[in-house]
Amino acid sequence: MRPTTITKLNTGAQLSHSVFAQARDWIECARSVAVLTGAGISAESGIPTFRGPGGLWNNYRPEDLATPQAFARDPKLVWEWYDMRRQRVAAAQPNAGHRALAKLESHAPNFTLITQNVDGLHRAAGNRNIIELHGNLWLLRCVSCGRQEENRCVPLSPLPPQCTCGGLMRPGVVWFGEALPADAIRLAVLAAEKCDVFLVCGTSAVVYPAASLPERAIAAGAHVIEVNLEKTPFSQFAHISLRGKCGELLPRIIRVPPFPEPVI
Ligand code: APR
Repeated sequence: MRPTTITKLNTGAQLSHSVFAQARDWIECARSVAVLTGAGISAESGIPTFRGPGGLWNNYRPEDLATPQAFARDPKLVWEWYDMRRQRVAAAQPNAGHRALAKLESHAPNFTLITQNVDGLHRAAGNRNIIELHGNLWLLRCVSCGRQEENRCVPLSPLPPQCTCGGLMRPGVVWFGEALPADAIRLAVLAAEKCDVFLVCGTSAVVYPAASLPERAIAAGAHVIEVNLEKTPFSQFAHISLRGKCGELLPRIIRVPPFPEPVI
């Protein structure tokens, strides 16, 4: 049965109760749930997004800070920027949106969280089956010997950090122009194509291959629910597209047993 399209434009009172009820029902009845998150889910934890108001790319040029060429040119400058971001994340806590997804994982028969975020806040909130498509800020990798380590020191010193082999350590994230980890994208595609419900939370849906995942889920017959403050290029394809903050809307559509008695 092809899911009916229900698209509403904002979270105001006029957002019919049935849209939330429909989203809740799909989630509660799902045997398999997959979720794609972006920077928007961490915005309420004080982590800036990349695009839109206050986005990092409004003040910084990706080609100066988030490419292998930029690192080769000026590793100290690149590290100063990543260290600034690590310090912000170190001071941040998961929010109600992160926590709702952790709660969902603890109840859904099959659950996969696919994130573009490198902040590690989903794991801090309690999620476990996480695919980090774009890497993780707390990982460092040697550009010479390939050794990888988890390092949560903030501020990091000295910059740039050095490997025991004498090589330079780079941030364990995926930069523009670099391929995503093969296993990560393979498992993400599998989860998108196998799920009954696919949630798309706080992403502008413009960076591929991550942005292809909701499309794959639709093609595979899943119900796709988008939560975003703004309309995205994907909104018109979502079965339900909710306008608002992840921290406010996810707890409203993710309920876990014991369910509250229906108000007669
Ligand atoms: N709740 C819901 N959505 C939000 C919230 C919020 N509180 N705050 C912002 N948003 C939405 C914005 O409307 C926007 O659509 O989150 C989205 C954030 O988009 P981007 O900043 O483009 O972040 P993201 O989609 O994760 O970027 C993808 O691009 O720069 C690269 O590698 C980086 O992983 C990143 C990738």
